[in-house]
Amino acid sequence: MNAHARKVVKEEPLIIMQLPSDANSTGRDFKGMELGFLKEVLDSGTLNCVRGTQVKTFEKDFAARYGVASCRAVTSGTAAIHCAVAAMNLEPGDEVIGTTITDMGAITPILYQQGIPVFADVDPVSLNVTPETVAERIGPRTRAIIATHLFGNPCDIEGIQAVGAKHGIPVIEDCAQSYLATQNGKLTGTIGAIGCFSMQQGKHMTTGEGGMVITNDPAHARHMRLFSDKAWGYEDPKPDHYFLALNYRMTEMQGAVARGQLAKLDSVVERRQMMAAYLDYLLGETPGVTLPKALPGSTHTYWKYALTVDPEAVTGGVDALAKQLKDSGVFCVPRYVVKPAFECEVLAKRNTYGSSSCPYTCTKNAGGAPPSYDRADYPGTILGLDRVLVLPWNEHYQPEHVEFIAGRIKSAVAALRQPQFAGV
Ligand SMILES: Cc1ncc(COP(=O)(O)O)c(C=O)c1O
Repeated sequence: MNAHARKVVKEEPLIIMQLPSDANSTGRDFKGMELGFLKEVLDSGTLNCVRGTQVKTFEKDFAARYGVASCRAVTSGTAAIHCAVAAMNLEPGDEVIGTTITDMGAITPILYQQGIPVFADVDPVSLNVTPETVAERIGPRTRAIIATHLFGNPCDIEGIQAVGAKHGIPVIEDCAQSYLATQNGKLTGTIGAIGCFSMQQGKHMTTGEGGMVITNDPAHARHMRLFSDKAWGYEDPKPDHYFLALNYRMTEMQGAVARGQLAKLDSVVERRQMMAAYLDYLLGETPGVTLPKALPGSTHTYWKYALTVDPEAVTGGVDALAKQLKDSGVFCVPRYVVKPAFECEVLAKRNTYGSSSCPYTCTKNAGGAPPSYDRADYPGTILGLDRVLVLPWNEHYQPEHVEFIAGRIKSAVAALRQPQFAGV
């Protein structure tokens, strides 16, 4: 377009809709019970959970909602994973299988417990580990499996549990993103040996920061409770600091907010699912775009709404589509975490304890084959990251928000459609 033409063409004003966000009060709700419970805490003068009642009540309520014997509230999802890994009582150099696409909080606790993270590849569409990819990584030093239910979409956790059981290896479910998601009628977090949750700002329920571990195994329950509190045996006749452990106690203020949030959780999940179903309906069959889909018998609870984009059908793939969407007012994240966990410096450069590279180099099992942190061994991960486009999702979305998002996606895909898909 020349300078003259630029002057005479009148551009349509771009209508931007403000979408609710989990970063602030447009997409978070702390009204009602949270305030009442918080006032109770402050009025009581007891802010610490050892003496207070809020965290204890929250743990009881969470256990009742999940139908499990034991819950322990902690300071973050990372702390929850750390408690679960600690319960595995690793020997230095033992291996724990994790997922290549997850939060680093699901991986570094393995190193803190002197374990070596080994990775299972993921399915390129769901970006979840599978029973097959986990089974491929089991070796003589494997002591646990951590399976993340990414974006709120359950992995085949029953299949992974069966693989673990065959080898006597416990499964830790990372449910930071999958509150109330189910598989064959069972809640994620109750299928493996231990379930871990995060209550960080953007999760289905939040206390700003926070976490939870759940289990039906009394030995795991005791170990995790002790680990979260300097291994001091409060209720024992002769308490002591029994083993190496930290302080991951949740405060009473967090416990108060968590109780209110838990009471809202079912409704939060229902609203997220309803609006996700509406977006599925509006997008329908969009060539080049695969919509998120739960495995048969599973329910997805939509922490995020993740699409897969085929660059053969959409010119420029996820990057071009993301740019168009952002320019037209729909925030989104192409490629999610951008690179697999094993390419982050902490793992790739073994930046652990000083310059030692422990536990990779200084364990009694040293000398075994090192884990593969080579992307050539993870084709599903590389393909999945190249194609995933993550849309924020929120329980405060209304039909008009979803219609806005769908409209923008459809226009962007139409504008980028490769000629051979033009008539589709
Ligand atoms: C899948 C997954 N695991 C673990 C974590 C760690 O949780 P936190 O940030 O509360 O430490 C997160 C966090 O955001 C997560 O999404």
